[in-house]
Amino acid sequence: GEIQRHQFVIQATPVKRLCNTHNRITVNGMFPGPTLEVRNGDSLEVKVVNKARYNVTIHWHGVRQMRTGWADGPEFVTQCPIRPGGSYTYRFTIQGQEGTLWWHAHSSWLRATVYGALIIRPRLGESYPFPKPNLETPIVLGEWWDANPIDVVREATRTGAAPNVSDAYTINAQPGDLYKCSSKDTRIIPIDAGETNLLRVINAALNQPLFFAVANHTLTVVGADATYIKPFTTSVLMLGAGQTTDVLIKADQRPARYYMAARAYQSAQNVPFDNTTTTAILEYKSSKKGNAPKPIMPFLPAYNDTNTVTAFSRSFRSPRKVQVPTEIDESLFFTVGLGLNNCPPNFRRSRCQGPNGTRLAASMNNVSFMLPRSISLLQAHQQGIPGVFTTDFPGTPPVKFDYTGNVSRTLFQPSTGTKLYKLKFGSRVQVVLQGTSIIAPENHPIHLHGYDFYIIAEGFGNFNPKRDTSKFNLVDPPLRNTVAVPANGWAVIRFVADNPGVWLMHCHLDVHITWGLAMAFLVENGVGELQSLPAPPSDLPLC
Ligand code: C2O
Repeated sequence: GEIQRHQFVIQATPVKRLCNTHNRITVNGMFPGPTLEVRNGDSLEVKVVNKARYNVTIHWHGVRQMRTGWADGPEFVTQCPIRPGGSYTYRFTIQGQEGTLWWHAHSSWLRATVYGALIIRPRLGESYPFPKPNLETPIVLGEWWDANPIDVVREATRTGAAPNVSDAYTINAQPGDLYKCSSKDTRIIPIDAGETNLLRVINAALNQPLFFAVANHTLTVVGADATYIKPFTTSVLMLGAGQTTDVLIKADQRPARYYMAARAYQSAQNVPFDNTTTTAILEYKSSKKGNAPKPIMPFLPAYNDTNTVTAFSRSFRSPRKVQVPTEIDESLFFTVGLGLNNCPPNFRRSRCQGPNGTRLAASMNNVSFMLPRSISLLQAHQQGIPGVFTTDFPGTPPVKFDYTGNVSRTLFQPSTGTKLYKLKFGSRVQVVLQGTSIIAPENHPIHLHGYDFYIIAEGFGNFNPKRDTSKFNLVDPPLRNTVAVPANGWAVIRFVADNPGVWLMHCHLDVHITWGLAMAFLVENGVGELQSLPAPPSDLPLC
């Protein structure tokens, strides 16, 4: 492969949205940020220069980072943040991945405006496993706040309450026709009669799973999270935050203008639903622009339409039989969900604005994950520095209860800690991710850094090994880096721990990671250089 070099300048840029101009942090003044286009086997060297007044890191979401954990990016996990005035060059190689990934800031809520697509095409001379499309278009779904997103999360952290919801949803950073002062900038996606466009749909929204559809057009899913999927057709997609889905769309309708739209899927029925639809326009090039009729809106499911979500996610298969580990060395069971912490006695009332004077929290196996501040976890591990983390993350929940029912207040209160789960190199791992209904049953998009995993089953209620093991698909399950764990349900994933380092696993809803819905795996080195993490690069930012 080739080596591609890029420079990302992180800088404050005036951005006009919803009638007003705000300074927002961008990459190279672009919003969304630059699209990177590479081939499988290429290497990337991205020099990130921080000219903003915030700390920043960039994460290459879904890139496997084989033995390049120092380039993964989550702040205080694999590196200290790049300070204002500093820089760091991320160096990594794309190995065996093809399709759509993306990159985003992994520092506070900066990813609200610091994100872009990462497109990986087949090696030179190789082709897609589907007919070559005439066009390819990234469709990046996002969220926009009129307030500075950093202030939004700071305020939430200060009060312990839920953060303000965003003011608009966006397609390629534009809210579209349904919002004030936005119509003239609505994104136009051109196509011509008979052509096929490969839409690379990315859910870069901070806090919402999203439905996506195009009026009058059928979508053929061919990929997800930079893996190929056995093609299937659908009228609507659902993407958990962080997920990508590649679809072919054929211009087989009357030449005209058609809306494509995204809207929140929010399974918690008590969460208010409004302001969450965003549109762009699929425009047949031959249609007359001047007096073009109003575009047609697609049908989108209701905000609580879990049946559609379930049918959609169960349609995903690998194109052929795959090598799922059948023997398991580590059988883990992690609860994922919200919690409430009592107001500590030394806290002011104003810091406990959650339900009934509590602070909102979230956890895996009842531990709210805390990042260190003085050194990254990966450095502490590599250099053997004690006191930064412990390796006692529980492999099963400390107490078992009815995860989908009402439970007593005592079960609401996670402890905090920087707890890692240690894996021997090469271990075959199964994790049951069990959603809890504490406070609200929600669909949690759980993302694992440094790995793809097979999603071998999902279901509703409490995971029951006797009943549910028989449903495991060990033949052709999809390979993903983010699994949307059903609300009031569970999902089972498997992977082989073949990439040494410290790898964050977390809910990709930023508000949940803020509250601690995360843990990290420490994957030990194996034997010899090829199974070990090399020394850190010399420009790795220090704390
Ligand atoms: Cu795209 Cu840790 O996240």
